[in-house]
Amino acid sequence: MTGTPEQQVASLQAHYLPDVGAWLRDALADSAPDINRLLRYHMGWEDAEGSPTPSEGGKALRPLLCLTACELAGGDWRRALPAAAALELVHNFSLVHDDIQDRDVTRRGRETLWSVWGVPAALSGGNAMRVIADRTLAKLESSGLPPAAVMRASAELNQRYLEMIEGQYLDMAFEQRERVTVAEYLDMIGRKTGALFESAMFLGALVANEDPGQAHAFGACGRRIGVAFQVRDDYLGVWGDRAKTLKPLTDIQRKKKSLPLVYLLEAGSEEDRAWLQEAHRDDEVSGPNVKRILLLLDRLGARGYVTRTAEACASEAVALAGALGLPAGRQRTLEAIAAYCVQRDR
Ligand code: IPE
Ligand code: IPE
Ligand code: MG
Ligand code: MG
Repeated sequence: MTGTPEQQVASLQAHYLPDVGAWLRDALADSAPDINRLLRYHMGWEDAEGSPTPSEGGKALRPLLCLTACELAGGDWRRALPAAAALELVHNFSLVHDDIQDRDVTRRGRETLWSVWGVPAALSGGNAMRVIADRTLAKLESSGLPPAAVMRASAELNQRYLEMIEGQYLDMAFEQRERVTVAEYLDMIGRKTGALFESAMFLGALVANEDPGQAHAFGACGRRIGVAFQVRDDYLGVWGDRAKTLKPLTDIQRKKKSLPLVYLLEAGSEEDRAWLQEAHRDDEVSGPNVKRILLLLDRLGARGYVTRTAEACASEAVALAGALGLPAGRQRTLEAIAAYCVQRDR
């Protein structure tokens, strides 16, 4: 593969996503339960009235990593499609609940599920999506995977999305804390985002060879890519272009201990920290105080720090990819994905 990391990821998306989309649409096709209508809305396929929409949906990076890992490990990627679709469903379940928890009213440039149908309905929608994900993963059996390997795949996905939920819990708990260290932050994002990226590459490799040792090595690389991806997400949550991310810039307002703020807490003076503690007394940080935090971040060089951290995580992912013993050309595909994750602007 050639081109910039963005072009290479775009060509992987063009290669894999039509089939992933077909699996996802099948998974949510059941029109009898009203709840699936909400889920098709969330996926961007329908408007609130149920009419088809031309929306792009998400980037589908977890399916992409799963299918890429399967191919790189020498497997037939089509056999991993149930896992790829299940990962995207688990991810979307997390987004439906996350938007409630973060009180965000837009995602992917559209109103969030809870802001259209209310919190109780959106909670049920997210729960349904998670169960549909489990059911979709079980279809690996139709790919000819032996039952023991399907059970291993299911145990892996369950373990990782439990970790994702734990990470999400910590992310919210950190909002109420004044001090969060970089180490605590990295542990939190490893669970919140790294875990699902880990299971993506684990499952792809497992379908290829049914070799758990190899699958774990792929998974370790995936987790690091996920951490790099989340650090970049934290950058975009403060300094991103809303026209590109299609998400609101609410992290500072919501007292999120995303990496820019964690850095401020470590690199700022005693006086800066005392002032921040005052600014954090309100439920939400006021507009003028958000501006002052942004100035403080600039003064402390936070943008450079966050970018360097994302790049360091991507380099660690590349080193783990190097340890997989893949031919150079194949390894470069993983390098391009890692580079994309830290350069992306949406
Ligand atoms: C958003 O993930 C949530 C995080 C883990 C940062 P993505 O940026 O992968 O979301 P979509 O699916 O592409 O919208
Ligand atoms: C998304 O997290 C939810 C999970 C990863 C579980 P964030 O709150 O950090 O992501 P965005 O910015 O809303 O997409
Ligand atoms: Mg959020
Ligand atoms: Mg969140």
